[in-house]
Amino acid sequence: MENVEVMLEDVIEQLENALKNDDLYLARQLCADILVNFPEQPDATKILGSVATKIGHNEAKRRFPGANYQEWLSAFHRVLKPRGYLEIGIAGGNTLALAKEPSLAIGVDPAFKIECSLHARTQLFRTTSDRFFLDYDIKKLLGGDILDMAFLDGLHTFDQTLRDFMNVERDGHKQTVVLVHDIFPVEPITAMRERISQFWLGDTWKLIPILRRFRPDLKVFTIPTYPSGLAVISNLDPSSEILANHFDAIVAEYMTHLDEEIENAEAHLNVIPATPAAVFGAIGVAYSE
Ligand SMILES: C[S@@+](CC[C@H](N)C(=O)[O-])C[C@H]1O[C@@H](n2cnc3c(N)ncnc32)[C@H](O)[C@@H]1O
Repeated sequence: MENVEVMLEDVIEQLENALKNDDLYLARQLCADILVNFPEQPDATKILGSVATKIGHNEAKRRFPGANYQEWLSAFHRVLKPRGYLEIGIAGGNTLALAKEPSLAIGVDPAFKIECSLHARTQLFRTTSDRFFLDYDIKKLLGGDILDMAFLDGLHTFDQTLRDFMNVERDGHKQTVVLVHDIFPVEPITAMRERISQFWLGDTWKLIPILRRFRPDLKVFTIPTYPSGLAVISNLDPSSEILANHFDAIVAEYMTHLDEEIENAEAHLNVIPATPAAVFGAIGVAYSE
């Protein structure tokens, strides 16, 4: 018993030193060791979460130079000029504010608190995406306008994001472009299904290998952009029932499938160069500054 306590004190001292020296990778390893050997240490989970957040941001800054996801979203608005725009997960409104007149925007979030001015005609719904799709008809909400672009940034699990995509596709058309945030994890702890870090992508990234396997007719690729990538999905088919017919089986399989691939997620995401020529070329849309 005494030995165990001595060991714990020793690791905690090493952890404190690692944190003092900003040695994040050592701190992450020591937290993981503590959690394996002393699972009743709640502080280790908290520290691991905050260390993973720092590593995640640092790694993303290093790997994703250039325009960030908001700048890309802004470029999509400028180029596509969507008649109808839907955003799932709006939080403070920073990304919803990128939609401009004459677009008609719809924002959905059970807990939004708009903290900036919006620039499109906008309808806000304080509810979950599932409830929203059950209770409202997007075509009716948009009136004469058409859903040309959507941004999925709600609950960061692959099954929820898959359901959000299926619901959007039903109300979209072949040229609708669906963008998905939090799709390119560079720090595995931030991509755990269970959230322990403030910077959290969840297991959303599994959406991409699922779509590439079950819906090869879709165009699916990922822009490597700070802080967590942006997936682009186009060539929608509102009449497709493949995902709906296989939904339960897909979710059951992917709940654990590919977990061991997390360090190698990039290989599953069809990452393309983060340049306007590559991105807009891939969806067959002309780009000009
Ligand atoms: C990362 S924030 C969105 C940030 C915003 N898009 C931006 O980039 O500034 C995620 C938001 O999703 C919302 N959310 C969580 N679960 C949701 C759900 N089931 N349906 C819709 N929104 C959800 C949360 O309330 C939170 O505000």
